Amino acid sequence: MNYSMIAEQIRALCAVENGWVPVFSNASAVLFQGIPDISWAGFYVEKNGSLLIGPFQGKMACIRIPHNKGVCGSAYSKDAVILVRNVHEFPGHIACDSASNSEIVLPIHGKKGIVAVLDIDSASIGRFTEEDKEGLLKVVETLEENVDFGDLEV
Ligand code: SME
Repeated sequence: MNYSMIAEQIRALCAVENGWVPVFSNASAVLFQGIPDISWAGFYVEKNGSLLIGPFQGKMACIRIPHNKGVCGSAYSKDAVILVRNVHEFPGHIACDSASNSEIVLPIHGKKGIVAVLDIDSASIGRFTEEDKEGLLKVVETLEENVDFGDLEV
């Protein structure tokens, strides 16, 4: 998968309109269509002390995730990329979609701290590799450099 192409597409979208709602909405579509073998791609935004569902593509998902829960909460509280080979082995994993078997979550930083996380799920065990992590880090960097996070900045 060419993550550089996805990052470039997102950069071009930001040049048109860089508010977080339009960018995250189209970015979730670009990621969902551009990455093979995934079941969900989207964003949780930090709002009032927990993670709130943001723009995404895939099945309906949980609305709020506490900072200390699930893969998303762990990525937020540790400020680290978390790559889970088998979600059923991850303590506290939140099963929004029973078909999900592996997952990667990356924190997205604003000027003062984490404003959102990018969450991508797959039905295949071990779907995400270091290569995916490196590629998705480029996507996150593009978002961090170009998006106006507005009300998400604290
Ligand atoms: N599985 C995630 C919750 C979000 S859904 O997968 C979209 C987690 O454990 O944080």
